[in-house]
Amino acid sequence: MTAPTTTPGAAPGLFDRVVRPALFRIGGGDAETAHEWTLRRLAGISRRPALLAALRARYAVAAPRTVFGLDFPNPVGLAAGMDKDGRALPAWPALGFGFVEVGTVTAHAQPGNPRPRLFRLPDSGAVINRMGFNNAGAAALAARLAALDRPLGVPLGISLGKSKVTPIDQAVEDYLASYRALYAYGDYFAVNVSSPNTPGLRSLQDRSHLDALLTALAGEKPVLVKIAPDLTDAAIAELLEVCLDRGAAGVIATNTTLGRDGLAPADLPRAGEAGGLSGRPLTARARQVVSFVHAETGGRLPVIGVGGILDPADGTALLDAGASLVQLYTGFVYRGPGLVRGLARAARN
Ligand SMILES: Cc1cc2nc3c(=O)[nH]c(=O)nc-3n(C[C@H](O)[C@H](O)[C@H](O)COP(=O)(O)O)c2cc1C
Repeated sequence: MTAPTTTPGAAPGLFDRVVRPALFRIGGGDAETAHEWTLRRLAGISRRPALLAALRARYAVAAPRTVFGLDFPNPVGLAAGMDKDGRALPAWPALGFGFVEVGTVTAHAQPGNPRPRLFRLPDSGAVINRMGFNNAGAAALAARLAALDRPLGVPLGISLGKSKVTPIDQAVEDYLASYRALYAYGDYFAVNVSSPNTPGLRSLQDRSHLDALLTALAGEKPVLVKIAPDLTDAAIAELLEVCLDRGAAGVIATNTTLGRDGLAPADLPRAGEAGGLSGRPLTARARQVVSFVHAETGGRLPVIGVGGILDPADGTALLDAGASLVQLYTGFVYRGPGLVRGLARAARN
């Protein structure tokens, strides 16, 4: 593994030397096969209380804070998309996460795009994905959450998206169906209107669509809007007005980008893969968007900062830019649970 995925000046740890290379060899290097293998292992661990306790003792860090009325044991969350169907829920807090966002889930179960649809770009500390909301559907997630035998111990967010079969002009009903099915189980809901992999979805960030969506999802529980990093400042400002008018609890910034800047030369052959880019190439833009949202709303709308956290310093920079909480996906792939612990510790100081 090359420079961008290890901390400058730090000796590589067990994850960097042994675990990541082993995981990256699974399935002949196919990223989705490795992902599925890992999720299955974590689902297995989730059924073993002694293993969970051992992991918790190693990784869980207390850095409590209260945001949009919820108590978080630490501000470092698992971003949406890693555990779309909530298959390994108890494992995430044991690996140090202070909250978990499951999904994105849709009203109808759907297979997502054809494989291959997930690509690692290791020299860039990046991933490209065009998964297309593969998930077992809102009812299946509700059943799985209902069957959990003990509380997670951390807030659970549920990310909602639009089913591919549903036309964009019926999007509100589609989101509402998932929201109703899952309302009892989520501590907060994330409205995903920013995935680049469902045709037309990003148009739901426009004023009229978003207004209708947030009006329909009004309830007692916090609803947050997840935004794309590719929006202009003017478009973000308009979206924030709608969020404030309609009582959204916060904004999640950002989803993956359609841009291809910041890739290492060795990864350029992969740059032409369709889909959203995440990881290191997103670090600076995510920070800009967090900072813009914070300034534009005068801090009135809490922000969950996400995008390109590969080192604890990337995460603290997002918190310094105005994020109340942070999440990671790609950084967890490259750095493992040590990154979660390191960032939670850094956030405590
Ligand atoms: C393979 C993959 C699948 C993702 N799926 C979702 C998803 O279903 N819903 C969502 O809101 N974001 C999804 N994301 C976006 C992440 O939650 C996150 O916003 C983005 O990757 C930037 O963070 P990162 O640089 O830490 O990965 C996905 C990202 C990846 C890499």
